[in-house]
Amino acid sequence: MRAHIDHLADLTRGELNRSIFTDPTVYEQELQRIFARCWLLLGHESMLPRPNDFFTTYMGEDAVIVTRKPDGSIGCYLNMCRHRGNRVCRADAGNARAFTCPFHGWTFSNDGRLSSVPGYKEIYLEQLDLDAHGLVPVAQIGNYKGLLFATFDASAPSLTDYLGDMAWYLDMMLDRREGGIEVLGGAHKWLVKTNWKYPADNFVGDSYHGPVSHKSAWMSGFEGMPRRKSGYGYEGFQVCPGGGHGFGVRWAEDKDVLVDMALPEFQAYERSRVDEAERRLGALRGTHLSPMHATIFPNMSLLWQGGALRVWHPKGPNLTEAWGWCFVDRDAPPEHKALMRVHQLQRHGTSGTWEADDVDNWVQCTNASKGYVARQYTQNLEMGLTDEIPDPKQIHPDLRGRLGKFQSEINQRGFYKRWAELMADASAPSTPVMPHTAHACEGAAR
Ligand code: FES
Ligand SMILES: [Fe+2]
Repeated sequence: MRAHIDHLADLTRGELNRSIFTDPTVYEQELQRIFARCWLLLGHESMLPRPNDFFTTYMGEDAVIVTRKPDGSIGCYLNMCRHRGNRVCRADAGNARAFTCPFHGWTFSNDGRLSSVPGYKEIYLEQLDLDAHGLVPVAQIGNYKGLLFATFDASAPSLTDYLGDMAWYLDMMLDRREGGIEVLGGAHKWLVKTNWKYPADNFVGDSYHGPVSHKSAWMSGFEGMPRRKSGYGYEGFQVCPGGGHGFGVRWAEDKDVLVDMALPEFQAYERSRVDEAERRLGALRGTHLSPMHATIFPNMSLLWQGGALRVWHPKGPNLTEAWGWCFVDRDAPPEHKALMRVHQLQRHGTSGTWEADDVDNWVQCTNASKGYVARQYTQNLEMGLTDEIPDPKQIHPDLRGRLGKFQSEINQRGFYKRWAELMADASAPSTPVMPHTAHACEGAAR
């Protein structure tokens, strides 16, 4: 298997075999080896403000329900009835103590227990084991400064270990103000005829595409972009903290420059909060670094300037369901939150100026990878292969992880390296052991 994966991804040369974007076998292995093992973003705790609130989402292709239980703790369960497998909750979000399956009426309380079954006495003769047929729980749930994650793998490292140094950089977005962040309203959801890795790759480190792909949006002046510096001349870095995660940051000499980097309409707010960020995070993260884009392996992404929080749900080798939320500092004034919401819609919503640019590129790359001849040619990820920044501590002693220049594919190589490591391990993830499993062969038809 190792040789097979090495054939697909040679990251010392920066080459990828295009079949990883179209091969159904590779995709099926990803569901097991990536999505059933990794910590995956569920949402933000501000989406569950009250007891009994819930929302539904996906972990890989597995549908799940995320609940705020009556005791205030968070639960996450497969959205699958233990009778025939019907989806027990069809709503995107709401408030409910229990979920009743619309097929035959089995009812599950919001802590996953099977609490009532039609005909339990007269049909099942009280012999159905209710305790053994609750909703299937995830193996672990984690909360990093309000972001809720879960994994199906009981042997996965803790969420803190999984995020590693990426968490320290994420604090620039999640913890720069006392109240942290909140999510505004619901999610935009749209289908893109692309493999899930294209958008994850784009957000992990592709600052290179901006001046070309988004040139028309910049030129339109629709969103104030021409007032900012354009082209490839940004100072900054691609940060490769390990674990397949990646983060693009711009470098500012001081607070004034940091504020100037914000979109013009956001600068008054940025100026008002920058001292608080410096007190909370220190000089490097508070005054020198301006977050731009990030991917948390495998399928969560962020764009800081517009407050875009994304999950790329896989729906087959050539289909991805994108979910996008707008996040803001919880303590920001209402007028700033309103501006962020509009900015998000105009730029990163389903028909946003930038979104349309990106989506078409990913779709065309996926389509090209379907051709037999095209698949004989590798995809190129060699940018910055030989000029990684040798000693980031000389730039600033607090910098963590490996650093590439702002235009570098160091983060894509880190992303696919992690992908290849996980794909080379064929062992099954440690999914939760159910208290009672089916008697597989007893009384089997003869
Ligand atoms: S499938 Fe849910 S009650 Fe039958
Ligand atoms: Fe883009």
